[in-house]
Amino acid sequence: MDYDLLKKQLCSLAEEETWYVSLMANAAALLFSALEDVNWAGFYIMRDGRLSVGPFQGRPACIHIELDKGVCGAAAAGDRTVTVDDVHSFPGHIACDSASNSEIVIPIHSEGKVAAVLDIDSPVFSRFTDEDRAGLELFIKTMEELIRF
Ligand code: SME
Repeated sequence: MDYDLLKKQLCSLAEEETWYVSLMANAAALLFSALEDVNWAGFYIMRDGRLSVGPFQGRPACIHIELDKGVCGAAAAGDRTVTVDDVHSFPGHIACDSASNSEIVIPIHSEGKVAAVLDIDSPVFSRFTDEDRAGLELFIKTMEELIRF
């Protein structure tokens, strides 16, 4: 995957509007259409001490995730990227789409705190390599520089 190109596309999408809803909506659409073997791509946003679903592409998903639940909760609470090669063996994984077999979740910061997470699901086991992780972390770092909550 050409993550430099994805970063440039994100920057051009942000030229007109950096409000988080608009930027997350287009970022989700960009990732969902550009990445192969992905069945869900989108954002959960920190709100009232838990995560609430934000802009995404894919099937309807669970709306609220507590910080001690799921891959998203683990990434937000631990403030770290979590890559799961087989979601069925991850304790507490929340199955929103039964097609999902692997997943990556990356925190997004605002004013030094976790403000949201990017969540991407794949029907392919071990879909997300170290290269994907580095490329997506760069994508999120760029989003953090652009986004206006
Ligand atoms: N699988 C996630 C829940 C969100 S859906 O994948 C869209 C989790 O365990 O946190």
